[in-house]
Amino acid sequence: MEKVRVGILVGSARKNAFSQLIADTIMKQLPDEFEVKQVKIDNLIMFNQDYDDNNETPKEYADFREEVKNCDAYLFVTPEYNRSMPPLLKNALDIASRPAGQSVWGGKPGAIISVSPGVMGGFGSNNHIRQVLMFLDIRTMQQPERYIGNISECVDEHGKLLLATEKFIHTFTDSYVKWVKNFY
Ligand SMILES: Cc1cc2nc3c(=O)[nH]c(=O)nc-3n(C[C@H](O)[C@H](O)[C@H](O)COP(=O)(O)O)c2cc1C
Repeated sequence: MEKVRVGILVGSARKNAFSQLIADTIMKQLPDEFEVKQVKIDNLIMFNQDYDDNNETPKEYADFREEVKNCDAYLFVTPEYNRSMPPLLKNALDIASRPAGQSVWGGKPGAIISVSPGVMGGFGSNNHIRQVLMFLDIRTMQQPERYIGNISECVDEHGKLLLATEKFIHTFTDSYVKWVKNFY
């Protein structure tokens, strides 16, 4: 059987982003039967419908839509901005949802994990994304939810995740694997 292609989208392009650390951890935890790739989104200029309407679709949009289409499953790893998702991620979700009627997201499994130095672990961001994914018909894993709070206290002096946090994330990864396998 062909490998299940998982596309990971990370809501921060910041150097040393905690969300990238979580994404890297999950990529290592996913089994070999999954082909895992981070989908680049920080090169996407802000969505404007005129580009498509005037046949001026940026190449980055076209490439990104193709990449999303070729994924069998998605995983969203994100920080929280002002109790919602970062614009980087919303922009990516919007771009691959258009032109109208040509969304490339639908019908595939997905999951969300959020992270924050604050205690709530990006709850607002996580749940706003969940709402958008519902509309985009991404079959989003409901349980376990994962809000990784107090992240600065979950890394050692070298910036490495503490074992306990890694294990906490592993239970999410294991559930995600089971969830995705329901579809393939
Ligand atoms: C514009 C902005 C808004 C933020 N709003 C929130 C917030 O609502 N909740 C929260 O927990 N952290 C908030 N933060 C702090 C981020 O959680 C923190 O900067 C985090 O490290 C960003 O994620 P990253 O490490 O993956 O880049 C905000 C940061 C920025 C830049």
